[in-house]
Amino acid sequence: RKVVLAYSGGLDTSVILKWLQDTYGCEVVTFTADIGQGEEVEPARAKAEALGVREIYIEDLREPFVRDYVFPMFRANAVYEGEYLLGTSIARPLIAKRLVEIAEETGADAIAHGATGKGNDQVRFELTAYALKPDIRIIAPWREWDLTSREKLLAYAEAHGIPVERKPGGGSPYSMDANLLHISYEGGVLEDPWAEPEPDMWRWTRAPEQAPDEPRYLELTFRRGDAVAVDGEEMTPAGVLATLNRIGAEHGIGRIDIVENRYVGMKSRGCYETPGGTILLKAHRAMESITLDREVAHLKDELMPRYASLIYNGYWFSPEREMLQRMIDASQECVNGVVRLKLYKGSVQVVGRRSDRDSLFDATVATFEDDAGAYDQADAAGFIRLNALRLRIGARRRGRR
Ligand code: ARG
Ligand code: SIN
Repeated sequence: RKVVLAYSGGLDTSVILKWLQDTYGCEVVTFTADIGQGEEVEPARAKAEALGVREIYIEDLREPFVRDYVFPMFRANAVYEGEYLLGTSIARPLIAKRLVEIAEETGADAIAHGATGKGNDQVRFELTAYALKPDIRIIAPWREWDLTSREKLLAYAEAHGIPVERKPGGGSPYSMDANLLHISYEGGVLEDPWAEPEPDMWRWTRAPEQAPDEPRYLELTFRRGDAVAVDGEEMTPAGVLATLNRIGAEHGIGRIDIVENRYVGMKSRGCYETPGGTILLKAHRAMESITLDREVAHLKDELMPRYASLIYNGYWFSPEREMLQRMIDASQECVNGVVRLKLYKGSVQVVGRRSDRDSLFDATVATFEDDAGAYDQADAAGFIRLNALRLRIGARRRGRR
């Protein structure tokens, strides 16, 4: 028997690798992906080799991650519980999809991951895997083994000759997850929802109070709802997001500190840095503000929380997400143009938007000046009277009682 493991090269998944070999006596295939977490992935090769792995997959998935997952999600303006831009949630389906595909390629009958039994990630990995390969076997060591503390994990590593390296950040007191969209922090002092994290927890962004005193202006070009150029320079999806991350981080954009509701039922406190995503969301909404019909925009906004929950809960590969996606994508046909933004000490302000061919903004109708007959104000009297009809009838009834 053979199992494909989502392998970061870090301590936890190295222990899992060894544990799988020993407990299940199975051959382990490792899969390590670069999705923009900002850590080298190649070192995972030597580590896997040292543990006797013969089939090692290392892939750069940054472009497909942003093109096929992040950008479609941003077309929906998806935000979970008013704050969370779903940075971890959106990456899990891609990783699980590759695990399943590699299982097929290598003739493995199982996949394994390093998510705990308390979180959302296990659900996302496994719902995806079952949706794509209904008879797949899934091994989640954290739900099975007795390595229930950091200490036991370290002892196991020690006993089995797994190097416990003390690299910078290796001793982080937080459970972190990073990719091109965000970096997250949970656990440690954050388990007290009243405790403010120390300033050096944040790894990507400058503190807003330390950001430059000069604002940074930025132009984002959209085509069919996707950002395709920054300051007029065309870029790939991953290129756009990486560029916005760099600029946003400099200006202290995109930090949040929240308590969220996990799918498994508990509340959890987390801090997130999503610099590029925060800019992108604001800009995309501004682009839609002049290119989308009012009812289309409002309907999108009504469905958005549902769509965001689907992604948070792990239902990327589900008929309902795919149905909503088709609707959302259709709405983006006309979302073309340029948005101008001003970044300043943690804030993103929209200061301009234009669309040469797709704008619905009609200055002649909207003007406070003479509109030369484009809009007849007398029409409004009847519009208001008919809309008031039922209110007046209702008021009369109240008067009779
Ligand atoms: N709470 C966030 C979410 O559910 C982030 C999870 C981070 N995962 C991790 N393995 N550290 O999407
Ligand atoms: C984990 O439990 O593996 C991380 C947290 C989460 O998945 O929500």
